Amino acid sequence: MIRIRTTSALVAIFLLIQAALLIFKHAQQTNGIHQSDKKTSKVHILILSSWRSGSSFVGQLFSQHPDVFYLMEPAWHVWVTMYKNSARVLQMAVRDLIRSVFLCDISVFDAYLPGNRNISDLFQWAVSRALCTFPACEFFQRTDIVDEMTCKALCGKNPFGNVKHACKTYSHIVLKEVRLFDLTVLYPLVTDPSMNLKILHLVRDPRAVVKSREQAVKALARDNGIVLNTNGTRVDDSKYEVIREICRSHVQIFETATQKSSSFLKDRYMMVRYEDLAREPLAEISEMYNFASLTLTSKLERWMYNITHGLEPGKREQAFKITSRDAINVSQAWRNNLSFQKIRKIQEVCKGAMKMLGYRLIETEKEQKDLSLNLVLPRQQNQFAWSSFKVQK
Ligand SMILES: *[C@@H]1O[C@H](CO)[C@@H](O)[C@H](O)[C@H]1NC(C)=O
Ligand SMILES: *[C@@H]1O[C@H](CO)[C@@H](O)[C@H](O)[C@H]1NC(C)=O
Ligand SMILES: *[C@@H]1O[C@H](CO)[C@@H](O)[C@H](O)[C@H]1NC(C)=O
Ligand SMILES: *[C@@H]1O[C@H](CO)[C@@H](O)[C@H](O)[C@H]1NC(C)=O
Ligand SMILES: *[C@@H]1O[C@H](CO)[C@@H](O)[C@H](O)[C@H]1NC(C)=O
Repeated sequence: MIRIRTTSALVAIFLLIQAALLIFKHAQQTNGIHQSDKKTSKVHILILSSWRSGSSFVGQLFSQHPDVFYLMEPAWHVWVTMYKNSARVLQMAVRDLIRSVFLCDISVFDAYLPGNRNISDLFQWAVSRALCTFPACEFFQRTDIVDEMTCKALCGKNPFGNVKHACKTYSHIVLKEVRLFDLTVLYPLVTDPSMNLKILHLVRDPRAVVKSREQAVKALARDNGIVLNTNGTRVDDSKYEVIREICRSHVQIFETATQKSSSFLKDRYMMVRYEDLAREPLAEISEMYNFASLTLTSKLERWMYNITHGLEPGKREQAFKITSRDAINVSQAWRNNLSFQKIRKIQEVCKGAMKMLGYRLIETEKEQKDLSLNLVLPRQQNQFAWSSFKVQK
C-alpha cells in the first residue's frame, strides 16, 4: 500500500515537473515571438526606380532624415562584379544582397569588396547621411544635414565595420535600387517575418527619362549591356531597347502590385510620379513619409524648401547628383530638346506604361511645343484605382 502511494506521489511529482517544463518552454517561445516582433518594428523601405528618374533626389529626401539609414544602389556592386551576366540572372543576387543589408548584415559585401577596405569602398557612400554622422563618423551628428563633398573630405577613412554599427542604431533602413525589374522577385522579402518591407515605386515620363539618359550615355553603357545581355559589351540605347525594358518593368511592377497580387502588398506599395513630386514637393513628400512612418521635422522642411527652390548653398549640377534647378522646368525640358520623331519612337515602345502611369501621348509637333498643354494626367483621371493608395491631404 505504502509502495503504491509512493509511486503515485512520484508520478504526481513527475507530472508536475513536466507541466512546469512545458510552461517554461511556452514562456520561452512567447518571449521569442516577442523578440522577433521587436525586430520587425524596424521599417524597411525600398525605393524601386529606374535610371534618371529622380531616384537619387528621392533617396536624399530619406537619407537626411535622422531616423534613416540609407544606402544608394548597394546592388551596383553585384552588377559591377558580374557584369557579363544578364539583369535577369543577377536579380536573385541583388535580391539577397538587399535582404542582407536591410537586416544590417553587411558581411554580404565580402563577396564584392576587397578584404582591406574602408567606408569609402562602398558605392556612393557619401550620399548616405548615416555614414557621415555619428556613430559612423564622429564629425557630425545625425540631425545634421550633411553635404556629400564635406562628408567625403572627413569621413572616408573610417573602418568598414562602422557601416554595420551605424545600421543597427536606426529604426528605418532605406535602400534605393534601379536594378530590379520584376516585383515577384521581392515576394519572399515581403512575407519574411523578420522584415517590414515597403516598396516605393518611383516612375517618370519615359520621354524625360530618354532625354536625361542621352546626357549620360557613357555612364549608362555598361548597365545597358547587362539589361540587354550582351556578355559584357558596353552599348548605347540607340534602338530604344533599354527604355522598352524599363517601361515593361514599370508595367509589370505596377500591375502586379495593384491588380494581380493578393492583399499582402496593399499597404506595402506606393507609386510616385516624379512629375507630381516636382509640382507639389511638400505634399508628395508628406505622403511618402506617411507611407514610411516618418515624421517631417521643421529643419528638414526648410532644407527641402531650399533644394526644391534652387537655394542650396554651393551646389553644382552633375550626372548622378541631385539637382536643385526648378524641378518643374526640368521635368518639361524634353519637350524643347527631343525631336518629334524620337518622341514618337519612345511613345511606341512605352505606350502601355505611359497609359498606365498617366502620361498623355502627343500626336503632333504643335502639341509637343505647346507647354500650356499638360501631359501629366491628374491621378484621379487615371483608369486605375489610385484611391487605394491615396492619403488624405
Ligand atoms: C581608405 O580611404 C582612403 C580615402 O578616404 C583611401 O585613400 C584608402 O586607400 C582607403 N583604403 C584603406 C584600406 O585604407
Ligand atoms: C562572353 O565573352 C567571353 C570573352 O569575354 C567569351 O569567352 C565567352 O565565350 C562569351 N560568352 C558568350 C555566351 O558569348
Ligand atoms: C536654406 O538656404 C539658406 C540660404 O542659402 C541657408 O542659409 C539655410 O541654412 C538653408 N537651410 C537649410 C535647413 O538647409
Ligand atoms: C521655367 O519655365 C518658364 C516657362 O516655361 C520660364 O518662364 C522660366 O524662366 C523657367 N525657369 C527656369 C529657372 O528656367
Ligand atoms: C538640348 O540638349 C543638348 C545636349 O544636352 C544641349 O546642349 C542643348 O542646349 C539642349 N537644348 C535645349 C534647347 O535645351
